[in-house]
Amino acid sequence: MKILITGALGHIGSRLIHSLKPGQFEEVILLDNLMTQRYSSLFHLPKGVLFKFFEKDICTADLNEYFKGVHAVIHLAAITDAASSFNKKEMVEETNYSGTEKVARACIQNGCRLVFPSTTSVYGTQKESVDENCSVEELKPQSPYAESKLKAEQLLIQLGNEKKLNFIIGRLGTIFGTSIGMRFHTAVNKFVWQACLKQPITVWKTAMNQKRPYLDLNDAISALLFIIKKDLFPNQVYNIVTANSTVKEILDLIKISIPHLNVEYVDSPIMNQLTYTVSNEKIKKQGFVFKGNLRKGIQDTIKLLKGVVEK
Ligand SMILES: NC(=O)c1ccc[n+]([C@@H]2O[C@H](COP(=O)([O-])OP(=O)(O)OC[C@H]3O[C@@H](n4cnc5c(N)ncnc54)[C@H](O)[C@@H]3O)[C@@H](O)[C@H]2O)c1
Repeated sequence: MKILITGALGHIGSRLIHSLKPGQFEEVILLDNLMTQRYSSLFHLPKGVLFKFFEKDICTADLNEYFKGVHAVIHLAAITDAASSFNKKEMVEETNYSGTEKVARACIQNGCRLVFPSTTSVYGTQKESVDENCSVEELKPQSPYAESKLKAEQLLIQLGNEKKLNFIIGRLGTIFGTSIGMRFHTAVNKFVWQACLKQPITVWKTAMNQKRPYLDLNDAISALLFIIKKDLFPNQVYNIVTANSTVKEILDLIKISIPHLNVEYVDSPIMNQLTYTVSNEKIKKQGFVFKGNLRKGIQDTIKLLKGVVEK
């Protein structure tokens, strides 16, 4: 079976491609425009896996050239920094919505199944606990990034109904854990970075005791491979979340290794008064088992940075 991964050099993609084993897939096609310069994700790829890398932009490339004969597309390419998405709304819309439309239409044309990673930040809801049955009217994305993901979700549902696109939408929690193409602008990773460099830990004023959904990178990779192996393309949404935690719980785990943290409360355009937890029961009912662990993910990240930890 041939698979294709867009945005393959990013945080999730780099871990995914480095975890692949010989014989798992016949061919693995990688597309990335290198806008985030993660060349290192291509270093020392596993031997015996047939990778083909193309430096291409999903918004401008002729995707049919790459999608022919591909069984499943894992569409990771996106502009992913939610906080800075307020300053580049058009670019975010172009990549995350229009780019996804191009990818979806190329999937339809070439008969590929589509795995679309959305985000639990589409919820932003008033309810304490939410699952996939939360109606579109109840969803309250808090940033142009989350809005673009929700709009793309709705387009896929429409293309599923009208054009027989086969897809799954995974609403991923905020990722923690390490990869060779790692980024540090999401909650857990950013706090660990700041703690290691003895910088103030910048916490949004309202966030300390708010619960939010997080996803271990190991669980994210296992879930993507589980979906393909199980051929789970029901044209539905599945939450993919290891644990719901507060910032305080995250900081307490960092303190095990770095006891003195200097917390600075800051304003953020995506700050709100909401605390919510996201259910992962639906994917568990399919037989998926979450094995991730926030404590271990944080320790692994601190270990990665131990050479730069100030004494
Ligand atoms: N990391 C998280 O916490 C998280 C949480 C929820 C959902 N997601 C989703 O998972 C996917 C992957 O996330 P990630 O953390 O690996 O992101 P990332 O930013 O680390 O990687 C995205 C990759 O896409 C590439 N890219 C961007 N625009 C492109 C374009 N037009 N054409 C080709 N390549 C392009 C970038 O160069 C980068 O390598 C994204 O869709 C993201 O929205 C991530």
